[in-house]
Amino acid sequence: MDQPIKVLFVCLGNICRSPTADGIFRQLVMKAGLQDVIQVDSAGTGDWHIGKAPDPRTQAAAKKAGYDLSYLRARQVQPQDLQTFDYILAMDETNLAHLRTWQSAQTQAHLGLFLSLVPETGYQAVPDPYYGGPQGFDEVVHLVETGSQAWLTYLIKQHQLQAPTC
Ligand code: 4NP
Repeated sequence: MDQPIKVLFVCLGNICRSPTADGIFRQLVMKAGLQDVIQVDSAGTGDWHIGKAPDPRTQAAAKKAGYDLSYLRARQVQPQDLQTFDYILAMDETNLAHLRTWQSAQTQAHLGLFLSLVPETGYQAVPDPYYGGPQGFDEVVHLVETGSQAWLTYLIKQHQLQAPTC
């Protein structure tokens, strides 16, 4: 089999937006039977929450929508991630700018904004819910579901993916 396609979601703390994308996109990938073809991970540009589970408010909003994020643990994005992942999708411009400082001639990865495929949402960035009220966390789940579905459809088409038959 070809190498799996490696997708990394990046936010600031890796306890709210990117773990939500990690869990939701992973579930979509599994539902499509593509778990051996697409590998999923997430990381934060900041180091404050390394090793921690997703924020309890993030976990609660995801659980309401049917996603378990409790198994995820935060890690910080590393410069070598730019050489090992194929798609690195940032939740906002600040995190994308951080990633771009590590971009080099060796970087093969597609670096971009997670919501770039869904301009109809009216959002360029997934709003950071950390300092806001609880509805911000539901909004993250909703936007991430929309973006994740769009990325899965894109990857299936771009790489002509099919679920293994056995
Ligand atoms: P995230 O949210 O980037 O979506 O994980 C945040 C989490 C923590 C902090 C900021 C944003 N913080 O300042 O600790």
